[in-house]
Amino acid sequence: MKRIAVLASGKGSNLEAIFQAAERGELEGRVVLVISDRQEAGALERARQRGVKALYIDPRPFAGRVEYDRAIMKELEKEAVDLVVLAGFMRLLSKEFVDAYPHRIMNIHPALLPSFPGTEGVKDALEYGVKVTGCTVHFVDEGMDTGPIILQGAVEIKDDDTVETLHQRIQEVEHRLYPRAINLFCQNKIKVEGRRCFILE
Ligand code: GRF
Repeated sequence: MKRIAVLASGKGSNLEAIFQAAERGELEGRVVLVISDRQEAGALERARQRGVKALYIDPRPFAGRVEYDRAIMKELEKEAVDLVVLAGFMRLLSKEFVDAYPHRIMNIHPALLPSFPGTEGVKDALEYGVKVTGCTVHFVDEGMDTGPIILQGAVEIKDDDTVETLHQRIQEVEHRLYPRAINLFCQNKIKVEGRRCFILE
């Protein structure tokens, strides 16, 4: 069983989907640690309800990103984590962190990368006027939403969509896609060659 840590800043609906996939027996891995940079993050509560170690690490006392990331890495080491899953974690990781977990950090982004990276992926796609958007699971490198793509799912944009209705439909796809990608990692079924990820079936 791979040991998984989830880093989240928000409500944690993706974390919930990962827990539920594990409870259905669809994940050959176990979430052993949840860390948040926000005390009120719903993700921490969801972890506590399941008896999973949940840590709030306040970024404010740290001098900068590197120092903060070191504090997170220390906790990951204590739990001998194999995979780091970013689920709505609103911070860019330092080079030191990324280098310590090569192809072992995943993120989910609410757009079809490389289109609409950044924090407003849903709004940017809607305002641009594309007809199809979706979500992307990718490995994390030093850039903003730039690492090798593992899986993508498409969502059609409707004429009467708002950012909220569109994000809701994207999240439904996220909740299926993310546990699937994580499970592929747990089964050692993702092979990375340069920018390309191949799924070994
Ligand atoms: C997701 O939509 C994800 O694509 C983005 O942040 C959101 C997190 O949502 N990176 P939740 O906290 O998992 O509900």
